Amino acid sequence: MRKVEIHCSLTEYDNQDELPEEDRNLIQEAKASMNKAYAPYSHFHVGAAILLDNGIILRGNNQENASYPIGLCAERVAIFAAGANYPNVKIKALAITANSDHFHVNKPITPCGACRQAIAEYEHRYQQDIRLIMTGESGKVLVADTISNFLPYQFNADDLKVKTK
Ligand code: THU
Repeated sequence: MRKVEIHCSLTEYDNQDELPEEDRNLIQEAKASMNKAYAPYSHFHVGAAILLDNGIILRGNNQENASYPIGLCAERVAIFAAGANYPNVKIKALAITANSDHFHVNKPITPCGACRQAIAEYEHRYQQDIRLIMTGESGKVLVADTISNFLPYQFNADDLKVKTK
């Protein structure tokens, strides 16, 4: 018997000014995307922006539905857009932000469990870590070098013995 401890590493910034320009720019893209979210049910608007290895930025935001469960999170809208339109280009970074019609989001928004799994798929697909930059309307910014920090013991194509390259 052996106890396993998993280490997660995140960097907290007190404000956005401490971040490199590339990160700050991606947050601005995520905010612009957030303002176009379709969230008439939750009134919680989430924006995501993806930076590809070739410098192209893709945006996504949450798309809700009267049939609640079929709505999709901003992160998956963005990452699926990347996979659909640039299947051969690696993903470098993903920024996430949110606001609400009902309260002030004063802390970083982190991806939900399903989105963590979706992000992990693309890290595995391209064999490249994705830098995650998470923020709210105000407050701290959280940065992680890879989704592994949010999803230990992940299930991926290796478990199915499937080659994704
Ligand atoms: N949502 C996202 O878009 N991303 C997340 O990481 C968390 C939740 C969306 C889903 C739904 O439209 C709304 O936020 C409230 O859960």
